[in-house]
Amino acid sequence: MTEPRGDAAKWWQTGVVYQIYPMSFMDGDGDGVGDLMGIVSKLDYLNDGTEKSLGIDAIWLSPIYPSPNRDFGYDISDYRDIDPRYGDIEDFKLLLREAHDRKIRVVMDLVINHTSDQHPWFLEACKGRDNPHHDWYLWHKGKNGKAPNNWFAYFDKRAWWWVDEVRKFYLSTWCRYQPEVNWRNPRLKEAMFDVIRFWLDLGVDGYRIDVVNWFIKDEKFRSNPYRLQLTPPDYQKHIYDRNRPETHGLCREIRQLVDSYPDRFAVGEVFTNSPEEAASYYGNGDELHLAFNFAFLFRKWGASNFLREVDAWDRALKDRGWPTYTLSSHDQPGRHYSRYAKGKETDRRARVAAAMLLTLRGTPFLYYGEEIGMSNLKIARKQIQDPLGKKYWPFLKGRDPARTPMQWNGSPHGGFSTAVPWLPSHPDHRVVNVENQKGDPDSLLSFYRELIWLRKKTPALCRGGYRALVFPPTDCLAYVRAHGDRSVLVLLNFAGKRVTFTPPVGTGNDPLEGTWQVLFGTDRGKGSRLDVSTAIELDGYEVLIVQRTGGAG
Ligand code: GLC
Repeated sequence: MTEPRGDAAKWWQTGVVYQIYPMSFMDGDGDGVGDLMGIVSKLDYLNDGTEKSLGIDAIWLSPIYPSPNRDFGYDISDYRDIDPRYGDIEDFKLLLREAHDRKIRVVMDLVINHTSDQHPWFLEACKGRDNPHHDWYLWHKGKNGKAPNNWFAYFDKRAWWWVDEVRKFYLSTWCRYQPEVNWRNPRLKEAMFDVIRFWLDLGVDGYRIDVVNWFIKDEKFRSNPYRLQLTPPDYQKHIYDRNRPETHGLCREIRQLVDSYPDRFAVGEVFTNSPEEAASYYGNGDELHLAFNFAFLFRKWGASNFLREVDAWDRALKDRGWPTYTLSSHDQPGRHYSRYAKGKETDRRARVAAAMLLTLRGTPFLYYGEEIGMSNLKIARKQIQDPLGKKYWPFLKGRDPARTPMQWNGSPHGGFSTAVPWLPSHPDHRVVNVENQKGDPDSLLSFYRELIWLRKKTPALCRGGYRALVFPPTDCLAYVRAHGDRSVLVLLNFAGKRVTFTPPVGTGNDPLEGTWQVLFGTDRGKGSRLDVSTAIELDGYEVLIVQRTGGAG
């Protein structure tokens, strides 16, 4: 298995990133939609420098640029401004200052695979074939009046849309309102690179880059081959519209640009379920600083399932880069609190999942509200906002269920807004909310908070190597995180019943000898001693983190 290696020291490796969906985090001006001043008002909750706050190190904001909101900000009509629904550029500068004062870094979403169809570049591009912006997008005259190939659009009926003025089709593999840009055009590329500089110059700390593996399309627009799968988009092998080899060169250039600013980083959304594909965007340490691997989001509950994914991710990454881990996001398939729900055991499962996320070797990305156990809301058809839900109802309900307002307290709309919110609050906000949990040492929020601060103070946890001590099939995860002469052992029981962890014999260079002390746990007193060289009985869903205090190494 993976031997300890890789000494991470950058803030984007050791820190915890917290994703904010701005429409749903906090409404500062009472219009039912979250905004920047709302976020500012909650920064102390996220990190006020004391262990009373959650303690996260960075916030990633889903897009806040002006947008017609056909895909909720992922269709940008101006890359250099703030959508009025969130505030203005002065509010943004204030947010940056206030966040930085609290040592919270700010990560922007960068959606540069496509723009909105309302972006002035696209409006110009549609005016004529000789317009200077025309070639900034991907066009084709079609074949016999039809689309030139079989490419698939995620949110729409088709991927090619006719424009009379230029007598050509433009490409959008999302929805028709999201035309895709032509990265082979040097002027478009320079304009996008200027956008990247613009926000870095303002002081943002990094970017989450949207669908980075879709940037470049086959030059000949060849049709994808089909394969035996019933559901779109998997019935095509996406070899011509995704992961084109030239994308890596582009990622290297983006890396150089971002690295020309001190201490910044970029994490790519690689839209795939293959860890190898995701890993390829680290290049040889010269492409993106980090990439998401969404494997966890699609795994059923079970220690073996997660262990296999950790192993696959490690093998795919080799020494190329530092892993990332995440359990929930604003995209499918919803919040993990609901995914792993099992009656009365749900809350304990959420703790085991959180402990795994926050102690594996890699950067954890949290999704707003997971720290209090927010769950998916059932959305009635007429309330659906998400284009994905509109297209696939009733087979897919879309992404709205995981985008509901943050639950701050038990008042109407969960304290998110004084107005009716853009998406309804989950009715469980009366009980499941920050106010109820913040003073309760046994709450899920306290669990996250304690673990995040422990991680910060424990180099082995935030930057150490990783070595698994169990192999599938297993009910529990057991791994050592080691840094320098410090070793931490993490034991997580994914089963609702008692399980015995038997330490492997002859573990070679890192024996479990010596004296170990409980750092954190659900069932044992902090500071108590533990002999980890013999079998350990773990209670159902027990979380146990121990540190070697003496003896070997
Ligand atoms: C990414 C975003 C998603 C969006 C899509 C199109 O996958 O995470 O929310 O719909 O890109 O921009």
